[in-house]
Amino acid sequence: VGELTGRDFLKEVDFSPDEWAHLVSLAGELKAARRQGREERRLEGLNFALIFEKGSTRTRAAFEVAARHQGAHTTYLDPTGSHIGSKESAADTGRVLSRMYDGIEFRGAKQDTIETLADFSPVPVWNGLTDEWHPTQSLCDAFTMVEASGRPASELSFAYLGDARFNMGNSLMTMGAMMGMDVRMISPAAFAPQADLVAGAKDIARETGGRITISEDIADVRGVDFVHTDVWVSMGEPKGVWAERCRVLAPYRVTAQVMELAGPGAKFMHCLPAFHDLETSTARLVHDITGMRELEVSDEVFESEASIVFEQAENRLHTIKAVLVATCS
Ligand code: CP
Ligand code: NVA
Repeated sequence: VGELTGRDFLKEVDFSPDEWAHLVSLAGELKAARRQGREERRLEGLNFALIFEKGSTRTRAAFEVAARHQGAHTTYLDPTGSHIGSKESAADTGRVLSRMYDGIEFRGAKQDTIETLADFSPVPVWNGLTDEWHPTQSLCDAFTMVEASGRPASELSFAYLGDARFNMGNSLMTMGAMMGMDVRMISPAAFAPQADLVAGAKDIARETGGRITISEDIADVRGVDFVHTDVWVSMGEPKGVWAERCRVLAPYRVTAQVMELAGPGAKFMHCLPAFHDLETSTARLVHDITGMRELEVSDEVFESEASIVFEQAENRLHTIKAVLVATCS
């Protein structure tokens, strides 16, 4: 494992497979220490800026609480809370904030913005989600799969169903390659991951013993340990895309039949938020447009014994803490 102090985490390939394994194991140590009341504060007195150009529940909460547990402080800059992207460039924002803060988290529309921010910030910059990557989520998912199965990552398999062209598809595929997992990306052809990203993941998988399968066929979930999905329309996409997106992706909804096909021990995972009922205003809007009550996952699967989505959500805290400790202590 190379020196992680001072490093950025902008996308999965910023760390090597060994460094990924190290972060997963560090998250386990930090989680156990917290549970047993013996957490040591390794970030005492540090200050972190959290820039959110888009909303967040888990990512913001996890960065804030993880920092506090470790003795660090955070400043939350909401979508209107700083000049970035409106009156001030990412380059200038990075040069200013890095003189005051010991690390910067950024969530926003464009990967380019965080790449520039990082180029101009000598302190670690962490990606809290962009259009292309959501690496703190895929680290959480790697840790959660290892924890839930009690088996080494290299023995695990998972399928991802749905829109595989966006942040979660890219991140899960690349993380799976890093961890040496058997990865099945299952979507309509038009929603498959970009060819260059698939090639990159396959190169990594050759090194780690992983396997990457790109498929349109739901039957490829057979035998996997975990079934993942994500929203069909991501934050920032226009309302107009819902109707067509739902029509094309409906056959890829994670239903009880899909879970049965995966096998008796298979677990369901979702980065959340999820559309599995009509409890939110967006879900009701989509229902008015499409008539669908459930989108990427059925309520039955979401609420089933097989669903580990809330354990997964909690693990955002422990895994983001691992990133902060590894890059800042
Ligand atoms: N999974 C995730 O990133 O959730 P938030 O959008 O709530 O941060
Ligand atoms: N693909 C989703 C992930 C949310 C955590 C989005 O970008 O909105």
